[in-house]
Amino acid sequence: MPNKNIFAISGSLRSGSSNHNILRFLGGLMPAEVDYAIYEDLAQIPPFEPGLDNESPPQTVIDFRNKITNADIVIICTPEYAFGVPGQLKNALDWTVSSSTLVDKQVVLITAASVGDSAHASLLKTLGALSANVIADLLVPFIRAKIDSDGHIINDDLKVGLGVVLDTILK
Ligand SMILES: Cc1cc2nc3c(=O)[nH]c(=O)nc-3n(C[C@H](O)[C@H](O)[C@H](O)COP(=O)(O)O)c2cc1C
Repeated sequence: MPNKNIFAISGSLRSGSSNHNILRFLGGLMPAEVDYAIYEDLAQIPPFEPGLDNESPPQTVIDFRNKITNADIVIICTPEYAFGVPGQLKNALDWTVSSSTLVDKQVVLITAASVGDSAHASLLKTLGALSANVIADLLVPFIRAKIDSDGHIINDDLKVGLGVVLDTILK
């Protein structure tokens, strides 16, 4: 039995995404007893529709909520687009409002972008509205200079920052 179940969500759908690579880097640091999974179905979550947000929502939404419910910790790692939260990530979070899926859930927020402060602040506000328990957050500007073309993290400060995040996760 794993002693911790971690569910990681990348806000980027891009192949070769820096945010995916950060999540893979963190996954590589997890001890064997941690069950760590990166969500691969963000693009499949349908547009939020309050009329469908009833006792039988779309199956992808049910699965997404269950993955959060079964996780001890959720990690969200996302870029910023046009000074905001990527639409598909915000869309997925909107599906968790009525179900209270994130209430009291331990969440780690990492925003890795060119600048990223607007999306980071916006997500902290959204997670507050969802009553999530944000246990760590890390803003990573200039991300494209901190990861090489093979997806390896080449910046020592970022490695240190992720190490601090990891310590919090494993506490
Ligand atoms: C359409 C678009 C809009 C963007 N807007 C912003 C922005 O407003 N602020 C910012 O910091 N970065 C912005 N970026 C840069 C991304 O945050 C950056 O490319 C990041 O590496 C993307 O994450 P990914 O590598 O995980 O896909 C934008 C990128 C795209 C493609």
